[in-house]
Amino acid sequence: MNGPSLTTARSNNFYRIPWKFLSSTKAHATDTLSTSEPSFPHMSATTSSRLLLNFSTVASVSAKNTEGLKLLVTAGPHAQKAVGIWLFVSAAWVFSMVVLGGVTRLTRSGLSMTDWKFAGGLPPLSDDEWLIEFEKYKQSPEYKRINKGMNLDDFKFIYWMEYAHRMWGRALGIMFALPFSYFLRKGYITPQLGLRLSGLFALGAGQGLIGWWMVKSGLEEPISEYAEPRVSPYRLAAHLTSAFVIYSGLFWTALSVVMPEPPAESVAWVQGAARVKRLALPVSVLVGITAISGAFVAGNDAGRAFNTFPKMGDVWIPEDIFMLKPLIRNFFENTSTVQLDHRILATATLFSIGGLWWSTRKIDIHPAIRSLIGSTVGMAALQVTLGISTLLSYVPVSLGSAHQAGALTLLTLMILLNHTLRRPSLHLLKTLPSVAKTA
Ligand code: HEM
Repeated sequence: MNGPSLTTARSNNFYRIPWKFLSSTKAHATDTLSTSEPSFPHMSATTSSRLLLNFSTVASVSAKNTEGLKLLVTAGPHAQKAVGIWLFVSAAWVFSMVVLGGVTRLTRSGLSMTDWKFAGGLPPLSDDEWLIEFEKYKQSPEYKRINKGMNLDDFKFIYWMEYAHRMWGRALGIMFALPFSYFLRKGYITPQLGLRLSGLFALGAGQGLIGWWMVKSGLEEPISEYAEPRVSPYRLAAHLTSAFVIYSGLFWTALSVVMPEPPAESVAWVQGAARVKRLALPVSVLVGITAISGAFVAGNDAGRAFNTFPKMGDVWIPEDIFMLKPLIRNFFENTSTVQLDHRILATATLFSIGGLWWSTRKIDIHPAIRSLIGSTVGMAALQVTLGISTLLSYVPVSLGSAHQAGALTLLTLMILLNHTLRRPSLHLLKTLPSVAKTA
């Protein structure tokens, strides 16, 4: 590293959001403002007081409007903490929804409920009600072609899986809407935040509709009598991508609420962060594209073909990758092409994250950013390992869902990295020394 550095311990601490500091920062922040602004990033500050300063920025600007910094919650540290916790919990809920959705698909439970109501309903409560549901399922192509002869207990298992996934989503809607209206009434939510959260709420409601639109495609008779009934890969990809968008939006917003300023303790580190950002952005886009290509692997059940690595069977590139017409369809519907794409994109992702680490290793940046880049490299390597293991073992539920959770974890790290690389407000910039001092 070129310039003076802080300890790793400090960098790790940065992400341990110090709520206790937040609640005590209001008074402290006022002190910070009223004493001397130029000494804001105190040179001889200890680890915790530096952390405190980061958050005191938050609290102080809530008391006084400052240049360039847009706060999403302006009602003080208590409001910030409450809204922040709510949004992090909501994001974690969406994360769990994605994993539960993956398990539902991997246990082949997703087509067990043959109708859909926006508000949901009770599950079958009596033996008669179960028999009625089972009868409806028996009319579906999945029962006729794959599960013929299934017994009631097995049907109950797949039904409960799908029911849990749907109800977990509805519970999230309530868990999101109630605190939202409470915080609105309390005046904690700025118009900008309100608008953003309303958009995310609408996407969440739309997600239920997309889910049903996807399931419906799997309830239709397949065109060929030999084809397995399964949902449209396009709809599955739309459902998964929309879940990723909602998750990313919630997580980014939660971070913005609790951390309106990025970690910036010197102009040199701000400049370093700007250089890293130029590389991190395209890498993040690549992670997103790889994840979407994974949805097409899942949607085409392409993980159950070519269960070898690095070659696909005996060859590097299967012959039939451009079999479908028009050509473009191969990238979304052809098992060979879809899997080949995913392999290429995943490898490119791994190398580009490794490249990000390599090309930024000499840039003078905040240690928190450096350790985030390191974590991203580790996670990408783990994700590729999980992907290969999933493929080699014919997509068992455990590995398939771990691979899906891994994709979301990698995305989480990319979001955290990009959020941390933001430019600080003018207010903070003006107060920064040119280089950071060690603690
Ligand atoms: C950075 C690397 C990777 C990312 C971000 C990623 C992401 C994803 C995602 C989001 C899915 C969809 C999961 C689902 O809906 O269940 C998926 C599926 C899949 N991926 Fe990856 N993947 C990566 C690397 C790999 C590698 C290297 C392989 C193996 C060569 C692989 C093999 C698979 C398979 C077989 C599936 C289908 C699993 C299923 O049917 O549930 N992935 N991937």
